[in-house]
Amino acid sequence: MSATRAAGGVGGYDRQRELQAFDDTKAGVKGLVDAGVTAVPAIFHHAPDSLPVLQQAAADGSNVAATIPVIDLSCARREELVRGVKAAAETVGFFQVVNHGVAGGLLAETLAAVRRFNEAPAEAKRPYYFRGNARKVRFSSNFDLFQAPAANWRDTLFCDVAPEPPRPEELPEPVRHVMVEFGDAVRGLAERLLELLSEALGLAHDHLREMGCVEGVGVASNYYPPCPEPHLTLGSTRHTDASFLTVLVQDGMGGLQVLVDRGGGRRGWLDVPPLPGALVINIGDLLQLVSNGKFRSVEHRVLANKSRDTARVSVAAFCSADVIRSTRVYGPIGALSSPDGSDPPLYRSITIHEYLAHFLKKGLDGRHTLDHFLLKQPTPTAM
Ligand code: OGA
Ligand code: NI
Repeated sequence: MSATRAAGGVGGYDRQRELQAFDDTKAGVKGLVDAGVTAVPAIFHHAPDSLPVLQQAAADGSNVAATIPVIDLSCARREELVRGVKAAAETVGFFQVVNHGVAGGLLAETLAAVRRFNEAPAEAKRPYYFRGNARKVRFSSNFDLFQAPAANWRDTLFCDVAPEPPRPEELPEPVRHVMVEFGDAVRGLAERLLELLSEALGLAHDHLREMGCVEGVGVASNYYPPCPEPHLTLGSTRHTDASFLTVLVQDGMGGLQVLVDRGGGRRGWLDVPPLPGALVINIGDLLQLVSNGKFRSVEHRVLANKSRDTARVSVAAFCSADVIRSTRVYGPIGALSSPDGSDPPLYRSITIHEYLAHFLKKGLDGRHTLDHFLLKQPTPTAM
């Protein structure tokens, strides 16, 4: 007994062993739910200060200044669109888009296909269970299971769909007909949004695209099973995205929240309400880096699913450079910073490889990934 405990550290249980046992099932959180668990296992327990406070919404709601903007992309006036994405990218870092040109049927079918994959028998999913990024198509529960301080009540099917899509036979049958099409559609939209965002930074419309910001697309299909004790865990720990831009479709269940400034140095969680047919867009870490902090990669989280019987599904497309082959060095864009002026570069220049190595090693631990790449600013000398 004591030997087991000694291996565990805090909490009085052998955390490492329980993580391994859970991972070895290759059945994810859905496997636990199917086995009828009525209590959330300790590996999923989050520190109390990272869990939603009871009635927090009511307490915070009294002074809600911020909302997640909704932008109608069919709006004919380009200046208005540029103004809209600029305001969102500089503040909450999130916006929703409607009339975005991606067919509603494709979005609905993608969500349905992801649900079917996750709700297939565990034996059908097991062959895809894989940790690390050496496979284009990989299913796992918690990519950072062995790094993060607490696991999340969520399973994920990850597919790298651009620049080189997987062959159809590499994809699980339930998602085979939609995954690549979804990735292509989203990539087209991301290119359009990057044009608006380039202009919002005062750059030529093709500046961000030419930097390779949407060369690669990784699609994370998230499945959040009903949770028997949603007050003890999360669907996703607070984090920022390892992308330039993220495009997300969510079903109607809700649970995604963004950490916003409420003025006076106070911060609070704001719901991203499900909006039928809309896509949720957010600025990722790499766009914050190249924009020298002008655009914000804002922390967000997902609450554990409180439903008794229905899983939540979301599909997030992380637009980035070619994560495997890119050797390009990304730093604050010259025109957006001046080394000797009032706008010094905030971040050091890095490769995607270097960024991702840090992100993966750290896992979702509640800290902002980009802080690691901050340059030390000279302290102003008193005159
Ligand atoms: C993510 C993410 C939010 C959601 O996958 O990075 O933040 O609503 N997902 O699932
Ligand atoms: Ni995210």
